[in-house]
Amino acid sequence: MELNNFLSETDKPICTDSICMNGRGIRVAAISEIGPGTMMGFEVQGKYYLVANVEGDFHATDGLCSHRAGQLWKGKLDGHIVQCPRHGSRFDVRTGEVVSQVRIPLIGKAKKLATYQVSVVGEDIILNL
Ligand code: FES
Repeated sequence: MELNNFLSETDKPICTDSICMNGRGIRVAAISEIGPGTMMGFEVQGKYYLVANVEGDFHATDGLCSHRAGQLWKGKLDGHIVQCPRHGSRFDVRTGEVVSQVRIPLIGKAKKLATYQVSVVGEDIILNL
């Protein structure tokens, strides 16, 4: 699977090799791999996704920040809010809405992230794209 050039080896999202197609959904991880209050990034067919566990409920959004492609899975998850590690925009992982903007004025603004349905089937987390 090809990664964008701006990602270094250490910046790659994990689990890119464990993806398997399963009908409409794609298995991205076992539920035990994303515990409550944690999140992971995944690459699926050249696009990046964030899956976050908020008190046992899984939510998925775009993996790259809508401002300047910060890797959201490397940011902070506080409840249902993820903070971008680059310029600090914060998003609600349940809706993709921006809850606070870029910390530095005059370098643009973040926009709402796309969200994706997540299902749990047995022990597996399925991302429905
Ligand atoms: S890249 Fe996310 S806030 Fe700038």
